[in-house]
Amino acid sequence: MGIKIKQEDWIRKYLTKLIEFGKSVNDNEEKNEYAAYTALKLISVTYYVPTFLNVAQHPDRKTEGYDGAVYVDLFAGSGLVNISDTYDTVAGSPICALSANKNNFSYALCVEKDKKKKEALEKRVARIYPENKFTIIHGDCNDSIDKVISIVKEHFDNPIMLTFVDPEGMEIKMKTLKKLSDAFPAQDFMINVGSQGVLRVHGKLKKGDYSTERTWNEYWGEEDIEFLLSEIAERKTVEEQYKEKLSETLGKNVGEIIPINDTKNNPEYFILGYTRSTKGNSGYARALTDLKRRLEHEDRTSVRRMLEAMTGRNKTLI
Ligand SMILES: C[S@@+](CC[C@H](N)C(=O)[O-])C[C@H]1O[C@@H](n2cnc3c(N)ncnc32)[C@H](O)[C@@H]1O
Repeated sequence: MGIKIKQEDWIRKYLTKLIEFGKSVNDNEEKNEYAAYTALKLISVTYYVPTFLNVAQHPDRKTEGYDGAVYVDLFAGSGLVNISDTYDTVAGSPICALSANKNNFSYALCVEKDKKKKEALEKRVARIYPENKFTIIHGDCNDSIDKVISIVKEHFDNPIMLTFVDPEGMEIKMKTLKKLSDAFPAQDFMINVGSQGVLRVHGKLKKGDYSTERTWNEYWGEEDIEFLLSEIAERKTVEEQYKEKLSETLGKNVGEIIPINDTKNNPEYFILGYTRSTKGNSGYARALTDLKRRLEHEDRTSVRRMLEAMTGRNKTLI
């Protein structure tokens, strides 16, 4: 019972933050819209950033030769998300990252493909961040990755970075992540792996529909489609397979595979957390483990209920 109450307090605290961060940039412009479990993904960013910044902005990092803490968001969205189950509005990932801690990022770089969302995000970030500390790029993040790298290099010689990768489907190419990782070795990644979507494409390919073969190959960074088709779902889950492939590509071990549940034990997607491997980074890994323990108890319904209770639409939980 004690643990349950603590969990409820925890989730309420973080949902309150998402709503407050959203309010600080709110307007009537373009928004993204997703189901209530999206809040759990946004909590992941909000929860991890303070731990990341405590280490990345610590004075010792200067002595070690690092010259900034940079946030990169490759699928940045509009900065605001409507929760379709409850009509609440919460902050999107870049606003969460830039609001989560006073000891803030030295610079932020976001990429968004949709023009209206990009323009809305630019205005929203400007409400909470100085204009000389961020750039919002309009475009496909795979095509724009050289630009991302060169902008970071214009500002910093040796930054510590946190990169959030949040595609709706399989839009991220493995070679994009490799380029970014090779350019900046001191980099943590949080990557959304849409296991349900990947399995749908897998099913199509297995049935001989090869219309998505190119997307599949670029997502995995593999030409050997037969190998992957036989491995996935039969011997390994999508998230396990992607984790292994990405660990190899990035040269980093995954901290945790965090489920974002539609219903309990039925994840819609996973957040893979990769931490840079240096001594003294155990705080990062511990934060990811704690986060996983918290989020695996939650799902779309529990978030919906809590949001309803917080806004007075359902009094039973208050
Ligand atoms: C799942 S949403 C991400 C939402 C965002 N992280 C948030 O918390 O609000 C994916 C976003 O990426 C954009 N997008 C889709 N493909 C893209 C690409 N190749 N490069 C950059 N952005 C893309 C979509 O327009 C959408 O806003």
